[in-house]
This record gives sequence, C-alpha cells and structure tokens, in this order.
Amino acid sequence: MTAQLIDGVALARQWRARVAERAAALAARGHRPGLAVILVGDDPASQVYVRNKVKACGEAGIHSVLETYPASLTQDELLARIAALNADPTIHGILVQLPLPPHIDAQRVIEAIAPAKDVDGFHVANAGALLVGQRGYWPCTPYGCMKMLEHIGIELRGKHAVVIGRSNIVGKPMALLLLQANATVTICHSATANLAHHTRQADVIVAAVGRPRMLTADMVKPGAVVLDVGINRLPDGKLCGDVDFDAVREVAGWITPVPGGVGPMTIAMLLLNTVEAAERAAG
Ligand code: GUN
Repeated sequence: MTAQLIDGVALARQWRARVAERAAALAARGHRPGLAVILVGDDPASQVYVRNKVKACGEAGIHSVLETYPASLTQDELLARIAALNADPTIHGILVQLPLPPHIDAQRVIEAIAPAKDVDGFHVANAGALLVGQRGYWPCTPYGCMKMLEHIGIELRGKHAVVIGRSNIVGKPMALLLLQANATVTICHSATANLAHHTRQADVIVAAVGRPRMLTADMVKPGAVVLDVGINRLPDGKLCGDVDFDAVREVAGWITPVPGGVGPMTIAMLLLNTVEAAERAAG
C-alpha cells in the first residue's frame, strides 16, 4: 500500500485565496488587515521564514511591516516596539519570530503582545483559551494540521492520535486540538519509554520533534495518517522531516511531504488568524 499524499501547497493555496477575499472585503470597508513581523538577530532559517510570511501577506492583500533588528537589541527596546504596535490601529497582528537571542526572555516578550493581536497564538491568554475551549487564536502549525485532517475527511472522534513532541508551539496545542475533536490523545516526548509501542497503536501520528527521519516504517500502523511537522536540514543541505518518508509512505494511509506539507499550511493559518483579527477589530 502506498500512502496518499496530503498536498500542503495546494491546500494552503485554497486557504490563502479565501483569506484574500476576506482581506479585500475588509479593505473595501477601509480596514485593510495589517501584520507586523519582528525579527531580531541573523538566524538564517528565521530570515527565510520571515521573508516567506511577508511575501504571503502581500499576495493575500494583507499590509505587512517587517522590522529587523540586530542581535544586540535590548529586551526593553523590543518591549517598547511591541507597546507601540499594540497601540497602532493599522496593525492587527504582531509576530515576533522565535528563537530570540539568549539575553531576551521570549516568554516575557510574548506576554507583552496584546492577546487580540497575538496571531501566533503563543500568549498565555490564547493558550489558556485553547485549553478551556474558548475563542482565541490557535498556534498556526497545529491549526494547519487540523485543516489537513479536515481536508482528507478523517473522523477524529474515537481515533487514537499520538503527538510526538511537547513544545508550546506545536506539541501541546496540537494535542489539545485533537482532544477537542474527540480523539484519544497520547503525547510522547524525549523521556517516553518505548515510543514505537505508542506510535504503532496510532490512527493519526503528528511528528514534531526536530530529529531527521526518526519515525520509521516499523513504528507506523498500516493505514495511519502521518503528519510531519519537522523541518531538518541535512549535512548535504537538503531538507527532510521527522518522518522517514520513503519507507513510511509504503505503510501509511496518508502522509505529508517535507517540504510542501505542513509548512505552507502554517503560513496560510497565520494569514487566516491575521484577517480574523482584523475582522474582530473592525466589528
Ligand atoms: N519559530 C518557529 N516557528 C515559529 C512560529 O510559528 N512563529 C514564530 N513567531 N516563531 C517561530
């Protein structure tokens, strides 16, 4: 059996087109959506991500402002910029690209963003809203994963989902979203004993660890849905995910490629959150 591919590029294109329609409708009412993106330092991967986000905004009719600062920027200077953007009515979303330099407390910075403009969904108010099932902003990568599962038409109720990774950005919110969809959820992480024992029982696996090709074919139940959140750069410069794609695709029922899977959906969900924030602000 060869798995069906979940084409993140094509699905993201559909979402971006829907966002563009909503952005145009807002602009016609004089409320063009605006996103501010802040990059501190010169991490090459972050530079690529940020460039892609800004470009996607332009294509969707979202006004974007990119602010880049040297790694020497102080925490107080960054907090002052966030305060100014919180007060700027032309800006509906604020994204501070992570990681930040070590002298800056990332959580402190995230908490300084107005929750209504936290389109990354990282603020404790949005994390708490997700936990208790209230309306807030969902982190873009797990949100994109949920849209992919919705797209392939899998009924999550009663299914066993295994999330590998427990980060605040992906693993934990992913598990909560799957739980909200009535899946039975297991969260595995670096201290999990016998990871394969858990993954072999899974109807849905979300791999978000950051270790190249760690999910191998023997760890996957035939027919399972496998979402690969990993983006790892190999010594030869090529990108690969956390899933051993060539082998796992022979076992799984559905699988996302890297690149071209979850990544494009993350950006599409950022645009969706931003247009949503602008709609809520416009009333
Ligand atoms: N770094 C890696 N992923 C993300 C993300 O989704 N948002 C932000 N702000 N930084 C990141």
